Amino acid sequence: MSLSREQMLAEMGITPRWVLRETAEAVGAADMSAAGGAPSDGEVSSPAGEPPLAVPEPAVVQPGIPSPDALPGGGGWSELAAEVAACRACPLCQQRQQAVLGVGDRQPEWLFVGEGPGAEEDARGEPFVGQAGKLLDNMLAALDIARGNQVYIGNAVKCRPPGNRTPEADEIATCRPFLERQIALLKPKIIVLLGKVAVQGVLREDKSLASLRGQRFEYAGIPVVVTYHPAYLLRNLPDKAKAWEDLLFARRVLRAGSAGKLL
Ligand code: URA
Repeated sequence: MSLSREQMLAEMGITPRWVLRETAEAVGAADMSAAGGAPSDGEVSSPAGEPPLAVPEPAVVQPGIPSPDALPGGGGWSELAAEVAACRACPLCQQRQQAVLGVGDRQPEWLFVGEGPGAEEDARGEPFVGQAGKLLDNMLAALDIARGNQVYIGNAVKCRPPGNRTPEADEIATCRPFLERQIALLKPKIIVLLGKVAVQGVLREDKSLASLRGQRFEYAGIPVVVTYHPAYLLRNLPDKAKAWEDLLFARRVLRAGSAGKLL
């Protein structure tokens, strides 16, 4: 079933209260600046009477993570896939049906990183195929992108934690070289971290999600933005609106990067 944009935003729980302003592409960026103060692409506005919600200006934050030169090599996709499939480096290998490498465009603009496979992902060998995955697909669709087209989806850990528990710090650290090699191969234009475990995997940060949202981090020169995990959003519906703000922010960061602009 294909959903209209309005239906997708409804699915994310952010309409009818907020509607997307026209995008720069739709109106033409030149026309918008000529009109003086036309809406920025990163804004959402409310219907009559409610103040517009502006996405904050990105702040560049560079934690102590590798420079591009330090990106790991380690062969191509086939070597990586074979090593992930055979990995027995941590206890998560014991109960998995299979390791789940990731899915999507291998020359993507966007890389979304989740936590780790759940039961359905473990059975099917693909990330985000359960309920959280449906919400993620709708979030992508609201951005006019889809898994497999400009987007790659992976996880901080490649094997299902038993009972879908949160991966331990040492499991995240053990799996990190695989994620880093994936990023080095993918060279995405932006990385979106879905939840705390993804943040630990890529940025090695252990702060609250709320304190990390709305900032532009960098990993090996690639912009990184943080938002809530879709499974969390399914349990905390009001925060879907914040996730939508984060995605708009990420799109602004991506576009600013591809235009070569300094933020
Ligand atoms: N949650 C995740 O973080 N990753 C998946 O692949 C599925 C659910």
